Amino acid sequence: MPKRLEEMQRDLWTYLLLVWITCIPYSSTAPFANQSRSLQSGATAGHRGPNEGQRILSRAKRGWVWNQMFVLEEFEGPDPILVGRLHTDLDVGSKNIKYVLAGEGAGTIFSINDKTGDIHAMKRLDREEKAEYTLMAQVINRDTNEPLEPPSEFIIKVQDINDNSPQFIEGPYVASVPEMSQVGTSVTKVTATDADDPVYGNSAKLVYSILEGQPYFSIDPNTATIGIALPGMDREIRDEYMVVIQAKDMGGHMGGLSGTTTVTVRLTDINDNPPKFAKNFYDFVFPEDLGLGKPGGKVKATDKDVGENAKSIYSIIGGNEKGVFEITTDSQTQEGILMIKKPLDFEMQKHFNLTVEATNVRYGPTGPYKDTTTVRIAVEDSDEPPIFTRPTYVLEVHENTAINTVIGVVTARDPDATGSPIRYFIDRHTDLERQFNVNVDDGKITLAKPLDRETDMWHNITVTASEVRNNSQISRAIVAIRVLDINDNAPEFAAEYEPFVCENGKPGQIFHCI
Ligand SMILES: *[C@@H]1O[C@H](CO)[C@@H](O)[C@H](O)[C@H]1NC(C)=O
Ligand SMILES: *[C@@H]1O[C@H](CO)[C@@H](O)[C@H](O)[C@H]1NC(C)=O
Ligand SMILES: *[C@@H]1O[C@H](CO)[C@@H](O)[C@H](O)[C@H]1NC(C)=O
Repeated sequence: MPKRLEEMQRDLWTYLLLVWITCIPYSSTAPFANQSRSLQSGATAGHRGPNEGQRILSRAKRGWVWNQMFVLEEFEGPDPILVGRLHTDLDVGSKNIKYVLAGEGAGTIFSINDKTGDIHAMKRLDREEKAEYTLMAQVINRDTNEPLEPPSEFIIKVQDINDNSPQFIEGPYVASVPEMSQVGTSVTKVTATDADDPVYGNSAKLVYSILEGQPYFSIDPNTATIGIALPGMDREIRDEYMVVIQAKDMGGHMGGLSGTTTVTVRLTDINDNPPKFAKNFYDFVFPEDLGLGKPGGKVKATDKDVGENAKSIYSIIGGNEKGVFEITTDSQTQEGILMIKKPLDFEMQKHFNLTVEATNVRYGPTGPYKDTTTVRIAVEDSDEPPIFTRPTYVLEVHENTAINTVIGVVTARDPDATGSPIRYFIDRHTDLERQFNVNVDDGKITLAKPLDRETDMWHNITVTASEVRNNSQISRAIVAIRVLDINDNAPEFAAEYEPFVCENGKPGQIFHCI
């Protein structure tokens, strides 16, 4: 009990102005029988059923506050509503006493009949706007305006009626929960508020129910926690639900007011789907001359999940014993790109059967998810240039070898299946002296001019091989010809000498050096 009220009560006992509470129709059971001043509940009584009266009575047993009056909120009638009656035992019928009212709303909201002490509410009141009014009542001498007793304070309480419906202030809601969640998994919690009196009656006692969203979701009627109600909700089948929640006051009973809100529930993805190749067989044709690291074909495994859960990496798990192929994963397109790591040779192997596997990057509830497919690769013969048996030929020839002698042979062949005949030529800018010839058909190299080792010890020439079928298909080899020394030179004097000797020369005297 507020202190102010306690003091008030003490004052009143001091003045022996005891209060008589009349609770129509239970006036005979009022708790304070000997009080001299009464606050008599007025018009409110007319709006209370017997149960309401009972309620007041039971309150009285718990310590009825003497100096309160009640008025129902939202009352609208043709006449002002009687709130109650003040009475003092000084009022014994004498005409010269006068009741006066002061305080909150005195004269504007509440009026008092100065003769009878009847208090009326002149306006419709709203508890949610102002729940109680503190007023002062006093009895004065009508003629002299002298107070006949000290003023006393009392309160008019505006009594709640259920005139406010529950409101979801934070709605509409958006929530998410992982797909495949267990029944009972909490999704979110909603909250409704009710402006009515939370301590009086059930006008603000809310009960929650689900209007739309069954059988997928349920709501706890008291805590308003929304939970999963159906097992195995699959995002890949449906990923969004609109749930409509109702809050009803009066404890959910008939006649209560209600409010609704929506909760958009989105299912979030879990990795519950494997990757799946679009085809069981992929057929690719790789040109024999496909460059290393160049894409030769693409495979793709799709996954019904999203984001990381849909990502796979690709690997070759069979048929790649020689390590010719590799596969990389394009993280943008989620494709597996097949490439070669070693050159292809149509003439060696024309077909490959690879087993390619796609594996989810992220584990799912039942382990890693994978799928395999078969990739059949046919190698396409490319028109390749001739190939020399060696990149460089080293020939040796004695410097005095006769012209037209065969000093060596170069050989090239067309690697293609069709095998074109080959023609050979010497690149003349590597043999400006035209020292050598090559036989156009068989690659035999002959000497065209006599050699002189003392002039050139090496003759390094280039021989070109070209295919008859397509003379743009060419390749080259270096032929290094070493000229070998033979003893073909007599010693020679550096100059013609004309020595002369003096006639008086002595024996042993040097006269010239050669
Ligand atoms: C590849 O598989 C096909 C059947 O799918 C088969 O006919 C072929 O012989 C296989 N080739 C190799 C190189 O294993
Ligand atoms: C001949 O070979 C060249 C070089 O490889 C190629 O570009 C051209 O298409 C070939 N021509 C024919 C008729 O095959
Ligand atoms: C020619 O080739 C041989 C062997 O490759 C090399 O030793 C020599 O230096 C070369 N000579 C010239 C002039 O390039």
